[in-house]
Amino acid sequence: MEPTTFVLFGATGDLAKRKIYPALYNLFVDQELSPSFEVIGLGRSELTDDTFRARVEHSIRSFSRREANNSALIHDFLHAFRYRVLDIGRKEDYMKLLRLIEQREEELRISPNRLFYLSVGPEFFERIAAGIQESGLGSANGWKRLVIEKPFGHDLQSARDLNQKLSQAFEEHEIFRIDHYLGKPMVQKLEILQQNSVLKALWDNHYIANVQITAIETVGVEERAGYYDHVGAVRDMFQNHMLQLLMMLASHLPNNSDSEMVRFKKKKVMEALEPLQKQDVSANVIRGQYKAGAVQGKPVIGYTSEPGIAATSMNDTFIAAKLQIDDFFWRGVPFYIRTGKRMKDKSTRIVIEFKELSKMSSQANADGKSPNLLVFEISPNEGITLQLNTMDPQHKGGVKPIHMDFHESRDNVHEAYENLIYDALHGDPTFFAHWDEVELSWKWVQPILEAFEKNLVPLHPYAAGTYGPAESDALLAEDGYHWWFDAKPEQEFETKGREQYAFHKDH
Ligand code: BG6
Repeated sequence: MEPTTFVLFGATGDLAKRKIYPALYNLFVDQELSPSFEVIGLGRSELTDDTFRARVEHSIRSFSRREANNSALIHDFLHAFRYRVLDIGRKEDYMKLLRLIEQREEELRISPNRLFYLSVGPEFFERIAAGIQESGLGSANGWKRLVIEKPFGHDLQSARDLNQKLSQAFEEHEIFRIDHYLGKPMVQKLEILQQNSVLKALWDNHYIANVQITAIETVGVEERAGYYDHVGAVRDMFQNHMLQLLMMLASHLPNNSDSEMVRFKKKKVMEALEPLQKQDVSANVIRGQYKAGAVQGKPVIGYTSEPGIAATSMNDTFIAAKLQIDDFFWRGVPFYIRTGKRMKDKSTRIVIEFKELSKMSSQANADGKSPNLLVFEISPNEGITLQLNTMDPQHKGGVKPIHMDFHESRDNVHEAYENLIYDALHGDPTFFAHWDEVELSWKWVQPILEAFEKNLVPLHPYAAGTYGPAESDALLAEDGYHWWFDAKPEQEFETKGREQYAFHKDH
């Protein structure tokens, strides 16, 4: 890694504490950081360098995936950290920051490579980018990069405005837009797996019946009412994380694709996505909001009783949608996507359901058994399972599914932020959202936003601790499918078939 100054706006914030410092620490332990790596933390509170270092230490001891108990190692790591107060509206503060950075670059004899990480609310992005430009912080003779967190805009127009402002200070190749789902190791594996010739041979509408992308959570709105009630599941998860998963899965990468090819192919997927007209949204999109219920045995309140949420709020805490990609590979294959809060489990996964071409498998299907499935478990566990129908040794002429499983041990799994910070430090944009992807995602989602706004789509209640409203099941049932791996209530056990239930329970 080239020597770099890591300038962190929002250094006393929650994201820095929970994700960024632990990620940097693990990169340090793995010797992935340059020996002359420098961190300058910026915030509004007055802190000395020592107090700041103590906070960073507390954060890595509390949140690092590796236990942080080697005091000498921690001491060496903290040596790289300094803190300064910065009021983002004060030009003078940027000038002081510039002087400090130049002084440190001179002392360490390092080139002026500067990474500006904006771990702050989106309302501050433009002012900070302008401050960096006006002060000359971004004009040194090394490279500069801007790392920003979502949300990138609130709708298509605001995203375009923001991009236009940022591009006055940074060029596209210098902007690293974080979508932390792209940092998840299993999502990164999809890039390579798609280039695998075995999967490639199956990756189209000849063999695939449908694709299901699920990201469900057990948590509710938590302490984020002010933010969440204005964004809902559609902006918080769907426009970014879910559509990124779709792009990563459907992009048909040629062998040895580089980052430019990955981005080019992802853009092609978004361009081929059949647009929804506002009046068609209700036929393809299910909007839900959680009511009181029980999550993992504990009673929980409904969304509109949460602190800070109005009793009349029509915000979506669940969304399910059916999407179609109109290209050579995917024409006719429905992609079902759903995400929601206060659901039964915490799980992010992609299920590929294969078509039943042979007599044996269609018989298995008719008997209520499972078709061939390929499952990518993204989190909290990481794994790939292939379910194949084969001969049932116990029943002549019968069919039995076997499961081929790969599960990554949790110790080997890097945190998403480790992968992303590593890539940003190395200038590798593969797993960051390019502006074209962000713009096309907003463009696709825009009719949904407008239909929600005008209440053209019913808001279906669902009990907390379930898999969302029944209408989400009906969306697939209309096409003869169902969501895979929703744990079935006990009473359905006998009627739905033993094999299927056993598979649900195992996974
Ligand atoms: C964030 C959303 O981007 O992703 C949160 O703002 C959500 O509302 C979170 O809880 C989910 O991330 P993960 O990695 O836990 O699936």
